[in-house]
Amino acid sequence: MAAQILDGVATAQRLRAEMAREVAALRERGVTPGLGFVLVGENPASQAYVRMKKKACAEIGIVSYDYELPATTTQNELLALVHKLNTDPAVDGFIVQLPLPRHINEDVIIAAIDPHKDVDCFHPVNVGKLCIGDTDGFFPCTPYGVVVLLQEYGIDPAGKHVVIMGRSNIVGKPLANLLVQKRAGANATVTICHTATRNIAQFTRQADIVVAAIGRPRTLTAEMIQPGAVVVDVGINRVEDAAAKGGYRLVGDVDFEGVKEKASWITPVPGGVGPMTIAMLLRNVLKAAQRRVV
Ligand code: GUN
Repeated sequence: MAAQILDGVATAQRLRAEMAREVAALRERGVTPGLGFVLVGENPASQAYVRMKKKACAEIGIVSYDYELPATTTQNELLALVHKLNTDPAVDGFIVQLPLPRHINEDVIIAAIDPHKDVDCFHPVNVGKLCIGDTDGFFPCTPYGVVVLLQEYGIDPAGKHVVIMGRSNIVGKPLANLLVQKRAGANATVTICHTATRNIAQFTRQADIVVAAIGRPRTLTAEMIQPGAVVVDVGINRVEDAAAKGGYRLVGDVDFEGVKEKASWITPVPGGVGPMTIAMLLRNVLKAAQRRVV
């Protein structure tokens, strides 16, 4: 039997409707949530992501503050903007869209962000809080989106073996840290596979839940999973397709057509984890703005 779909579009839409009501309540109390966007250079994928995030903000009543800088911006100029946003009371949180141009050190920029405004959860203070299970900080948007999507469909990771393919600082490592915590919605046994892992399939075949976050198209195939596994695809890859609009098509890290015949649940690309990432960004901005009330 073919897998059922973990629908990120519908789930994110439901969550946005819920959050729109929370934003309205905040606005009634004189607090207008604000999110700053810093985009350096003209990376088309980054431009597209920022556009989608801004649209989602507008839809629920979060105000966007836009900073588009040329690719020639120096590290010091960018640091000056970060300091300005850190102290701007209208800005509850801001994101510096990655990747940055090569002459700018991303770690230096991220470390300069006020952890209270770090709605991406990239700052070492928030990453540390995530590791020790301190829920005071923010949760990283994509991993948080994966956890909430599983929850939405009643898939409890507790006691399950979750195998994560990929050890990035944005997805693999923080997702492992979220899922391993001793609390509801987590409590999983977690394995991280990466480029130095020998025979990845021997691990993925033992998984109750497989998360593919490696950035290589259609890498997880049906013979790499056990029947009935839950498959979450974090990949967004552009592959050439002359027949498609713009000459390319988006595909995930999972061979969807093959895997869907063997899995119990699967996320599509697009329409799975992507919309959830954006919804969780909004959730973090709300959390930051709600702190202004108390
Ligand atoms: N680049 C890819 N994903 C992200 C993200 O979630 N946040 C930021 N700031 N940059 C990214």
